[in-house]
Amino acid sequence: MVRIVEVGPRDGLQNETRQVPTEVKVAFVDALSLAGLPEIEVSAFVSPKWVPQLADAAEVFARIRRAPGVAYSALVPNEQGLDRALAARADRIAVFTAASETFSRKNTNASIDESIARFRPVLERARAGKIPVRGYVSTAFWCPYEGKIGPAKAAEVALRLADAGVDEVSIGDTLGKATPDEVRALLEPLLPRLPAQRIAMHFHDTFHRAVENVLASWKLGIRAFDSSAGGIGGCPYAPGASGNVSTESVVEALRGAGEDVPVDLAALAAARALIGGALAPPRARDAAGVLEPRA
Ligand code: HMG
Ligand code: MG
Repeated sequence: MVRIVEVGPRDGLQNETRQVPTEVKVAFVDALSLAGLPEIEVSAFVSPKWVPQLADAAEVFARIRRAPGVAYSALVPNEQGLDRALAARADRIAVFTAASETFSRKNTNASIDESIARFRPVLERARAGKIPVRGYVSTAFWCPYEGKIGPAKAAEVALRLADAGVDEVSIGDTLGKATPDEVRALLEPLLPRLPAQRIAMHFHDTFHRAVENVLASWKLGIRAFDSSAGGIGGCPYAPGASGNVSTESVVEALRGAGEDVPVDLAALAAARALIGGALAPPRARDAAGVLEPRA
């Protein structure tokens, strides 16, 4: 059985040039709740100075209608974020660091070491409150500032997160540039040290290889994938990156591979239509097909 984590309301909306009204975000999450997805990443309790698009995280959490069986999660960078996530009754939280030093600094104003040190108390308190924690490793394949990231570096950071006590490590192709060979080069040596049940793969789709990468990971035993309805999204601190792999294409690809994926595509289409009208028009692409960074 595969698990799809819908990250559209967080990863999809954090980079929007338009301010999406809170009520539209709430309606988007509520519509996604009808699609049979087991987990929805609702928002981020990060600094609103860094990501003003998600400054209304607490209000979104307060207003969504929680469906039974769905876990509503949030990104948390530090203890202040955890306080806010607990007050909002997030079911799960996600901490985040990177395999690239430069990206870590640009994204969190901290080195990799500092970011891990910062979330150790977050992990302790989450564990005490029985809240499951995932840890993201961003730029696990390519970094917009440092270029190619070796698989050994990304695996090392993934193992450090696992050792620090996260329940699940989500390995991110932030730039959407990885190839299936690169996915195998990272996962094959990692899997004997970190079981597939503790790994999720998080692909962005800039070069349209994300579905191939999902299938390459699936063939190696990975059963958890992050995606966003309609493939919306990007990271404000990763210029050139486009949206996540779409939930629709992950569902279709995994069904094609023989998995039973209990997601209602009609409900997903309704959610995507609902948010589509609130988003800025798609960005232009440069000659290499890469999305131009937003101004
Ligand atoms: P900093 O500026 O070094 O932190 O930012 P600070 O502690 O000096 O705080 C600065 C101000 O922010 C202070 O306010 C704090 O109170 C406030 P002031 O005193 O100036 O009025 N603040 C907060 N407010 C609310 N909630 C908080 C919080 N923390 C501080 N939690 C910090 C450090 C980590 C906070 C900042 O860099 C940050 O928020 N970064 C988040 C960036 C982000 O969200 N990036 C996108 C998500 S990661 C991603 O997309 C990748 C992923 O999808 C996987 C993949 O694709 O690879 C997950
Ligand atoms: Mg992402």
